[in-house]
Amino acid sequence: METFKGKTALITGASSGIGEEMARQLAVSGCNLILVARRTERMLALKSTLPSVSVSVITADLSDPLAPQYVFDEVRRRGLRVDMLINNAGFGLQKPLLAVDQLGMVDVNVRSLLALTQLFAVPMAQRGEGWVLNVSSVSAWFPIPGMATYAASKACVLHLSRALHEEWKSAGIAVTALCPGGTRTEFSSIARARMDPDLEKAMMPAEVVAAAGLKALAQGKAVVVPGALYRMMVALVRVLPASWVTRLAGKVMGRHH
Ligand SMILES: NC(=O)c1ccc[n+]([C@@H]2O[C@H](COP(=O)([O-])OP(=O)(O)OC[C@H]3O[C@@H](n4cnc5c(N)ncnc54)[C@H](OP(=O)(O)O)[C@@H]3O)[C@@H](O)[C@H]2O)c1
Repeated sequence: METFKGKTALITGASSGIGEEMARQLAVSGCNLILVARRTERMLALKSTLPSVSVSVITADLSDPLAPQYVFDEVRRRGLRVDMLINNAGFGLQKPLLAVDQLGMVDVNVRSLLALTQLFAVPMAQRGEGWVLNVSSVSAWFPIPGMATYAASKACVLHLSRALHEEWKSAGIAVTALCPGGTRTEFSSIARARMDPDLEKAMMPAEVVAAAGLKALAQGKAVVVPGALYRMMVALVRVLPASWVTRLAGKVMGRHH
């Protein structure tokens, strides 16, 4: 990925899963890194394996509405510049809305993503160059009863990214939405997803998903759905009746314990 050589990428949710993989792959291509998440030890351990590039670690809880401004100020205070923003931090909850408050999920998945994007895009636009990769999900393409807030939060990320892809072309900022299907990370245990054996078989490695996202960003694509199976799924839900798709999604992905 020659495009990102010598640039600096800020990755949220870099302490595990897809974000950690993106950090590894960008480091290999000579891109400097700013890692953001809550688990400092995990990020420091990752940093110790990436000796060839400059790596900064910022500990932040992105459910805190003040965190995006703190991250932005901390980047400035350290004299760093962000060429590429990867909004990857996020989580799901396989819980009914009547049982669990889910505003904290919206704060991480949507609020912090929007705030960071706005903050870091201003200097990118002033330079006339920048990249923003927003991690959405295939769940953005259909509602999921039982995971309603998660799917809606990812739909928001997808729509926002698609609009900004067009809106910021003239500013020189590339915006891409990465929509992974099931990916082998810590996501499922946090969401407490009861994995259907067929869905388990369809899980993709985080390395493959991360690589697809970075490649699409470098190519200036608006949206990428990694994996032929998930691309087929997205194509199908766009032509099938919405009520039918919603009921099926609830049965397969939204079942509660
Ligand atoms: N795995 C899948 O099947 C799948 C499918 C579609 C989309 N996605 C999306 O992919 C993205 C990455 O998830 P993953 O699969 O790699 O799961 P993961 O291994 O659980 O990683 C999630 C990352 O987000 C960070 N994070 C969560 N809450 C945070 C908070 N309050 N403040 C700061 N960082 C926070 C975590 O760091 P700390 O815990 O250290 O803070 C962690 O680094 C998410 O946006 C997820 O919705 C995943």
